[in-house]
Amino acid sequence: MSRGKFISLEGGEGVGKSTQIGALAHAIRSRGIEVVETREPGGSEGAERIRELLLTGSDDRWGGQAEALLFAAARADHVDKVIRPALLSGKWVLSDRFVDSSLAYQGGAGGLGIESVREINAFGIGADFPDRTLVLMLDEGSERARVRDAAGSDRIGGRPADYHHKVATAFRLIAAEEPERVKLIDASGAPEDVSQRLIDAIQDLLA
Ligand code: TYD
Repeated sequence: MSRGKFISLEGGEGVGKSTQIGALAHAIRSRGIEVVETREPGGSEGAERIRELLLTGSDDRWGGQAEALLFAAARADHVDKVIRPALLSGKWVLSDRFVDSSLAYQGGAGGLGIESVREINAFGIGADFPDRTLVLMLDEGSERARVRDAAGSDRIGGRPADYHHKVATAFRLIAAEEPERVKLIDASGAPEDVSQRLIDAIQDLLA
């Protein structure tokens, strides 16, 4: 049984990830591959409990370090209970957000630094890093409009526009550092066009 592939979908607030994840899963399934769709923060019973702690309450409920460690703890459980077993049984895993969200939000925007957030996550992820990470991106003009309109509803989505601009900058930096794994995908235009760009960006894994 060969190991399944692990794909994560990333992006800032309101770039249409949830619509696109279904289309991407459908495209992979149409090749006869079994796909487990999951999300972060959450994806396993324990991680969903931690999600509650992370996304509710006042902005200062957690300090920066505690917030990053809670995301990493939720992720460790998600990998252990859901992602690793699926990959080992030959299924593909498609996750709505994964470690690159922590690198961009807590590391880049939150000021902890991408490298230190990578380190605290490595312990829980082990070898189960995504094979491909697709980051939905808008150009800077549309990005500003989106951030202004998407009055975030949770503890993190509701942070100021400046925070979300830093998230986008960090995603660009991560993609430049790891061009093989991390692909920036233009999120503008018709949803079907965006889906096609996503599928094109995993073509080599499907072959
Ligand atoms: P969610 O409701 O899943 O938002 P979205 O629809 O934008 O994916 O909430 C997740 C929020 O948590 C979102 O604002 C991004 C943030 N987040 C981090 O800050 N770090 C992380 O590691 C993850 C996985 C999410």
